[in-house]
Amino acid sequence: MAILLDRERGLISLQTRNTEYQMKIDSRGVLLHLYYGGRIYGSDLSHTVCRMDRGFSGNPADIGATDRSYSLDVLPQEYSCFGAGDYRSTALAVEFADGSRACELRVQDCRIEPGLPVPEGLPAVHCKSEAAETLIVSLADPFSGLAAELQYGVLADRDVIVRAARILNRGETPFTLRKAASMHIDWQFGRFDQISFYGRHAMERMPQRQAVGHGRQSVGSVRGTSSHHYNPFSILCEPTATETAGLCFGASFLYSGEFLMETEMDAIGQTRWICGIHPDDFAWELRAGDSFQTPEVMLSCSTEGLGKLSRNFHAAIRDNVCRGAYAHRRRSVLINNWEATYFQFTGEKLVSLAEEAAGLGIELFVLDDGWFGKRDDDNSGLGDWFPNEKKLGCTLRELGERITATGMQFGLWFETESVSIDSDLCRAHPDWVVRVPGRAPTLSRNQLILDLSRKEVQDYLIERMSAILSDAPISYVKWDLNRSLCDKFSAALDAKHQGEFAHRYELGLYRVLETLTARFPALLIEGCSGGGGRFDAGMLYYTPQIWCSDNTDAISRLAIQYGTSFGYPVSTMGAHVSAVPNHQTGRVTPFATRGCVAMAGTFGYELDITKLSDEEKAEIRSQIAAFHKHYELIQYGDYYRLSAATEPCVIWEFADPAGEKALISAVSRLVEANSAPIHFCVQGLQPQSLYRVAIRPAGGGEDDTRILEGLSGAALQCGGLTLTPEAKEYFAWEIEIDRESGKE
Ligand code: GLA
Repeated sequence: MAILLDRERGLISLQTRNTEYQMKIDSRGVLLHLYYGGRIYGSDLSHTVCRMDRGFSGNPADIGATDRSYSLDVLPQEYSCFGAGDYRSTALAVEFADGSRACELRVQDCRIEPGLPVPEGLPAVHCKSEAAETLIVSLADPFSGLAAELQYGVLADRDVIVRAARILNRGETPFTLRKAASMHIDWQFGRFDQISFYGRHAMERMPQRQAVGHGRQSVGSVRGTSSHHYNPFSILCEPTATETAGLCFGASFLYSGEFLMETEMDAIGQTRWICGIHPDDFAWELRAGDSFQTPEVMLSCSTEGLGKLSRNFHAAIRDNVCRGAYAHRRRSVLINNWEATYFQFTGEKLVSLAEEAAGLGIELFVLDDGWFGKRDDDNSGLGDWFPNEKKLGCTLRELGERITATGMQFGLWFETESVSIDSDLCRAHPDWVVRVPGRAPTLSRNQLILDLSRKEVQDYLIERMSAILSDAPISYVKWDLNRSLCDKFSAALDAKHQGEFAHRYELGLYRVLETLTARFPALLIEGCSGGGGRFDAGMLYYTPQIWCSDNTDAISRLAIQYGTSFGYPVSTMGAHVSAVPNHQTGRVTPFATRGCVAMAGTFGYELDITKLSDEEKAEIRSQIAAFHKHYELIQYGDYYRLSAATEPCVIWEFADPAGEKALISAVSRLVEANSAPIHFCVQGLQPQSLYRVAIRPAGGGEDDTRILEGLSGAALQCGGLTLTPEAKEYFAWEIEIDRESGKE
């Protein structure tokens, strides 16, 4: 049983395979947080709640006259409210019609439902209904019509709890939500480190680990997208937690817009963790009878370190977030023309790239930016989604047919949400553009954003894209967005409701994506926002892979993919082999190393393949063969970080869940003379089974391979393996480990 509900004691335990989450409804109906961690088998932990009279921590009138030890200022709660005596950062903040702000939520009822909630119009964690249960706690403010439902979906086998909240107006008068978080947890005890992921364009998701200290710390975005700058996934862990040991918690927000993840340690060392829509640019009016559904947060806990926590998220994102035909279908090895040609191409050039690529075993040709409107650079044309037949030398359908005739699939780039000032669309519909009337807008890449909060804009984009997708043989779309939002304002909202714009934009985007994915179920959409500027679990619900970064340099990618791997599986990370010197860093890396790094992703190429040497073309053939050979292991195996990305040699492993085989990649970031041996311990093997180990340079053949036989899983896991450093820049190794059949 996943959810234990003891109504008499007001005790609620959410149990998963390895973890437990406990709450208690106190004598006043306040929902307290008691515990989150390894299994405690339903034992009541309310004895751990310490109450004492604390100066300047006020007491509610209904209890305070007799009991000064009861204060919302210090009680560990499940969903705290602003204004009535809790001075910490809160989950909920409202403004009533009379301008007052104080509110409090008390439990009215609890119920358990099969399956997981399906929040309308939002991405959602999903599963077969027998695999999950949901607890719904109904709460109300005793002094107003404000009510709430806290939703806790329990995916027991995944060690995942999905949290969200619905705020309701059951009264007569409207009120405005100023903040409505999706997740809120209070820990009375314990010290934590927070690991969050910061970045910038072309260098996304760099981990930062720091102790949670007194006061409020936060990461978030007010850019209209989840952003390159902070990712809506973060971790709290014991200060001693490592990859393989320690208690850790992860929160992944299924939302692609403005978010805030806050930690706060209060005066007596308690830690609060909140995640939700960013309140800075948010205000949502709830009229009588209205409700507001927050997006979901996927929580997981590991008592075995960060590696296990990541694997929990990998499995849940692969199986319970990604959807559609491609969630589990083998993705094609692709070639994208962007870094090969940028805007300067002809139809003939594209076909020549496709023909060459098809001959080498590449399966999908992606035509990037520049195929539509007046678009020979990035100053014009966005929004004019009509093929430029003059540039292509034929219709888009004819081009698609020429490409599919080579045996490849055909894919196309769109930047649906944007519009160039110099475009027919912008000239025809100036009110469809996001900008403040009477104020010069902020440009970025010389473009503006379309007001996706408006249904007519959504409908236009759905129909325009549908027309193109139906006309040409297109099986893949790259869905890009190349600026952050600002000057937020919708011509369709009145002054009182402008605070709803950013979330309404997000709902509009999700409606467009939902409609197109339903209309074109065989289409694979790869998300992108100037690389990984919108790499979040919300987008992954619609686009099961996302272009990880505009930085294609293999050495930069070691860090980017390492950071991304904390919260997201390899099957979601778009990664390509590109030309050297690399276009973003100028670095020259071996072809084999570039293949090795791109293979820890969805794998593809992005370079002028017609300019490669015969030797490099042969390498492409063998890289593709290796990718096919190891596909299941790479995309669905258990992923282990065997080193940090800051080590001189970065090492990672894919092991099949049964421990039958493993594939390890190691890339030297830094060569030094006379350096120490490279040593690492394998993970995920059966301790008593014997294994054969083949160590070779990445892309190397049998002649270069060193074989070790008869090594027990325990020996490989405890004693490890050693690589001899090579005096070669950016050298890469691959290590195949196979269980020796018949031997124990
Ligand atoms: C963004 C993408 C790139 C490419 C360009 C095209 O930067 O991340 O991969 O598609 O746009 O303009």
